[in-house]
Amino acid sequence: MSVIKPAEGKLGVMVVGCGAVATTFMTGVLMARRGLSKPIGSMTQYDKIRIGKGHDKKYLRYNEIVSLASLDDIVFGAWDVYDDNAYISALKAQVLAVKDIEPVRAELEAIKPMAAAFDKDYCSRLDGNNVKDCATRWDMVEALRNDIRKFKTANECERVVVLWAASTEIYVPVDMQVHGSLEALEKAMHENDTLHVAPSMCYAYAALAEGAPFIMGAPNTTVDIPAMWQLAEQSRMPICGKDFKTGQTLVKSGFAPIIGTRCLGLNGWFSTNILGNRDGLVLDCPENFRTKEVSKLSTLESILVGDEQPDLYKDYTHKVRIEYYPPRGDNKEGWDNIDIFGWMGYPMQIKINFLCRDSILAAPICLDLVLLSDLAARAGRYGIQRFLSFFLKSPMHDYTQGEVPVNHLFKQYTMLKNAIREMGGYEADEAID
Ligand SMILES: NC(=O)c1ccc[n+]([C@@H]2O[C@H](COP(=O)([O-])OP(=O)(O)OC[C@H]3O[C@@H](n4cnc5c(N)ncnc54)[C@H](O)[C@@H]3O)[C@@H](O)[C@H]2O)c1
Repeated sequence: MSVIKPAEGKLGVMVVGCGAVATTFMTGVLMARRGLSKPIGSMTQYDKIRIGKGHDKKYLRYNEIVSLASLDDIVFGAWDVYDDNAYISALKAQVLAVKDIEPVRAELEAIKPMAAAFDKDYCSRLDGNNVKDCATRWDMVEALRNDIRKFKTANECERVVVLWAASTEIYVPVDMQVHGSLEALEKAMHENDTLHVAPSMCYAYAALAEGAPFIMGAPNTTVDIPAMWQLAEQSRMPICGKDFKTGQTLVKSGFAPIIGTRCLGLNGWFSTNILGNRDGLVLDCPENFRTKEVSKLSTLESILVGDEQPDLYKDYTHKVRIEYYPPRGDNKEGWDNIDIFGWMGYPMQIKINFLCRDSILAAPICLDLVLLSDLAARAGRYGIQRFLSFFLKSPMHDYTQGEVPVNHLFKQYTMLKNAIREMGGYEADEAID
């Protein structure tokens, strides 16, 4: 049984990006702790896990099993390229009605984004001026470390978690020469190798070096590199990512197991979305969309595996599209067309039309990832947190060792429950309940 340090004192939640997701998350937490709203969709606030078996079994909330930070202890901070405070940014995002923002206006206004570590080459569609002036990537790291230290002291935080809810950067393929070891990455930062070192890597480096877990909510490859695994190991800090699993991919990772469990065949799965928020604008740029596409495409292939069932899953076509369509704002609409086949190969089709709200689905995931990463740190867990795969589209895994990520929603749920059970000193098990 792991010894968990109790969640005492203030927890600083420093969010990179103060846009739609971040402000929806912050507003919801602030409203919930005043009793003015409910944190619906949050596993840490609602889910119950069975402990024990037979006559001894009971179902407990997460905070009855392990020590979790309370919503009352959270203090928010943020960085953004634009200097709008969280109140203005929440209004501009148009996710929440004014009546759901106004009661916590003063608290949101107090969240003024610190200058961003930003490089326009990584996000050409953004044009803010609240940006750090840094000569090298290493300078970015130093400036961000300073921000974290100052925030922690000013807000008397016991602990800090850094959450990336900023825009998707352009795709940075893993290059082992630079990303393969911490030494090589640090050298590249000092030499200002802007091609291989994304600004997001500077945030992650700064967080880990300051003893804060780092969560990657976008599909960026930031912490998906051996250099960061090494740093996380050195600093004994948890990391997780990548890409919040909110709408279409949540459906995919929950629906694909139906096809697989029932031994039906798959010819193709075509997913498309329309989306009109700033995230959609950034993803309208092909270099940024590539990062998202790689992340979204990885889901099916580890659930319906051609090598394991060649008659059923060999050579199916899997395509994902996102179209920027301003009239819809944050209210994304996703369509899935699934071409399956059954007995003697006869084809059938399934259509799924999900009219969702992007940030409404992402906000509870932010809360859960923050609270559970903080828990992991207090429990002495460090490096890639596989038990958090449940919340992520493209779960981190050690690809250098040929590890395959778990994308199957219900296997991920078992991993999540078992980690909580084990951290709470209970036995893990595989029962479905
Ligand atoms: N909402 C969802 O369902 C969902 C799901 C998965 C992933 N995501 C990811 O979450 C992220 C946030 O989404 P959103 O809808 O809030 O987008 P948004 O455009 O409303 O907010 C992102 C903010 O990040 C800021 N930013 C960009 N680069 C930055 C940097 N280097 N430092 C500091 N700030 C920076 C931008 O100025 C912007 O205000 C995106 O990457 C998106 O792909 C969202």
